[in-house]
Amino acid sequence: MSGKLSGKVAVVTGGAGGFGKGIVQKFKQEGAEVIIADFEEEAGQKTAGELKCEFQKCNVTSRQDWEALVKFADEKFGRLDYVVNNAGTTYRNKPTNEVTDEDFDKVFAVNVKAIYYSANVIVPYMQKKGTGGSFVTIASTAGIRPRPGLTWYNSSKAAVINATKTMAVEFAKDKIRFNSVCPVVGMGTGLSDLFLGKPENEKAFMATVPLGRGSTPKDIGNVCAFLCSDEAEFLTGIDMPVDGGRCV
Ligand SMILES: NC(=O)c1ccc[n+]([C@@H]2O[C@H](COP(=O)([O-])OP(=O)(O)OC[C@H]3O[C@@H](n4cnc5c(N)ncnc54)[C@H](O)[C@@H]3O)[C@@H](O)[C@H]2O)c1
Repeated sequence: MSGKLSGKVAVVTGGAGGFGKGIVQKFKQEGAEVIIADFEEEAGQKTAGELKCEFQKCNVTSRQDWEALVKFADEKFGRLDYVVNNAGTTYRNKPTNEVTDEDFDKVFAVNVKAIYYSANVIVPYMQKKGTGGSFVTIASTAGIRPRPGLTWYNSSKAAVINATKTMAVEFAKDKIRFNSVCPVVGMGTGLSDLFLGKPENEKAFMATVPLGRGSTPKDIGNVCAFLCSDEAEFLTGIDMPVDGGRCV
């Protein structure tokens, strides 16, 4: 199928479900080959079958898994153009004094260290190929407008927004672009409920969004496809809110 990502190859982490599935779906519609990288094998295989793309079992906190992923892309397609770092995690919204060492370590391993691995493994591959590339970090409005109860989740997203900007500047010479996407709370994806704390909080939260709803996998897929495409060739180092006006 021809589209704005035709002929390109993308890895989408956490592509088995939630926002990730919306990103995979849009990239396929726009003509890209997509590799879902997710540690949930059954869900990943199911989504890959449904959307006609590849699946690689991958824990994004493992350097070996990232190395296997780039090897797979190179052997299968001979190239890798886009990396959408979407896999993420949180603890349930709670007072900061109740956060455990385990909560902290998990959030920083999945939300921050995985982005480091992605760049550390894939940037050298792209530099060697010399054909440029695009990385998209799924951050959060939490990284630019933090609210109480999610201190270490919020700070993990702020960290990756900063790292994404820094790499945008450092790797611009290689035509590798780095941008972040900052969704407001999603409607019904895996983590949404944990951010809201209690399901009863949903209605009150949505009332604070000027456009009156949460973000959807389709919203996030559309923005990621745009940011990877040549239409965004002059955009690098941005953190784009996808939030119905919430952060204004
Ligand atoms: N849902 C929201 O309200 C919201 C708001 C802002 C930002 N975000 C961000 O969007 C991203 C996706 O959120 P979602 O709600 O769609 O989540 P989700 O739980 O629905 O999906 C996450 C996917 O990532 C996979 N995953 C988790 N840890 C992994 C690991 N270590 N290795 C490989 N795969 C792993 C899961 O198996 C799952 O398929 C996250 O980075 C999250 O922080 C979510």
